[in-house]
Amino acid sequence: MSTPTHISVLLQETIEALAVQPGGRYIDCTLGAGGHAAAILDRSSPGGQLLGIDTDPEAIKIAKARLEAYSSSILIVNENFVDLEAICIKYDFLPVHGILFDLGLSSLQLNSQGRGFSFQHDAPLDMRLSPSQEVTAADIINTSSETELAHLIRTHGEEGYSHQIAHHIVLERPINTTLQLVRAIEQAVGRRRGRLHPATRTFQALRIVVNHELEHLEAALKQAINLLGFEGRLVVISYHSLEDRIVKQLMQQESKDCICPPGTPTCVCGHKANLRLINKRVITPSPAEVQLNPRSRSAKLRAAERIITRDEQYKTMEKLCFSVKVKNNGWRRPALLKKLRVAFSVL
Ligand SMILES: C[S@@+](CC[C@H](N)C(=O)[O-])C[C@H]1O[C@@H](n2cnc3c(N)ncnc32)[C@H](O)[C@@H]1O
Repeated sequence: MSTPTHISVLLQETIEALAVQPGGRYIDCTLGAGGHAAAILDRSSPGGQLLGIDTDPEAIKIAKARLEAYSSSILIVNENFVDLEAICIKYDFLPVHGILFDLGLSSLQLNSQGRGFSFQHDAPLDMRLSPSQEVTAADIINTSSETELAHLIRTHGEEGYSHQIAHHIVLERPINTTLQLVRAIEQAVGRRRGRLHPATRTFQALRIVVNHELEHLEAALKQAINLLGFEGRLVVISYHSLEDRIVKQLMQQESKDCICPPGTPTCVCGHKANLRLINKRVITPSPAEVQLNPRSRSAKLRAAERIITRDEQYKTMEKLCFSVKVKNNGWRRPALLKKLRVAFSVL
């Protein structure tokens, strides 16, 4: 049997969108199996540095083994990107030239038999990316009301049959395994509907809720903008419309000088553009890539470049040092501030 693997999506397009340069400093917020990270390290050599983050300890193990040859240029940390600013302060990794988010799950997680992400294998209904999270998919399925379940499946899975599915889940409870859940969904909506498996959208909804995926993405993107230096690049690959909407709206808003509601006679918001969009249109995989890696078919890549002066950059970094509390490590303020003052020649 061949070893299970993950094929990195839009690899070349990502490296171009990040404008990776020798000696640059990059963050891969979703390290996964380390494919994008290896490509960034190759292109940023000599002198490049990469901070690789993943919330899943299993992914961290795989990435550490795969990226062993780059050990002098990479720092791998088992953290959640929702704490991006604090992680950068904790590890002294700022400002940066590029930040990548390749969202969702790797094929290794999806195909893993025991974690409950896939409706193809029977497994406990878990779906946590990190064992440090308390709430599993089974907890949500077995403790939410029918109305709450229908709402969750509708809003996070964009499932048209959310009420029927929620009703059957409640009838079949307790549900503790993936195949029990699949059976309840099939009883609600039948076995096949179009190209998608009938459980696809409900499984997506549960995974998003268990891992707070949308809230974490929105919070992390805002922090990423703060961490980018002059002309630093933010690149995000998303795999469903809920994620892509967050990325698109944030990038569009942050690339405008005024975000007053349409029709406001004069600007009252005082907002200044922080980003410049790199591509007018979203980048998607070529037919050849989709053929090679069907999992890439829903991928959408968006990229933007930071607009910031040197003076503003120093002020942003200084503000970060004062405002972000680093877990288990007290305040890094004095050492970091000193370093930043030297780097920015501030007396
Ligand atoms: C699509 S995979 C990345 C694959 C990687 N780019 C590669 O080329 O191998 C997404 C990864 O992001 C991780 N992830 C998802 N949400 C996260 C979060 N909030 N914080 C940190 N890592 C996260 C997942 O555990 C998974 O390993």
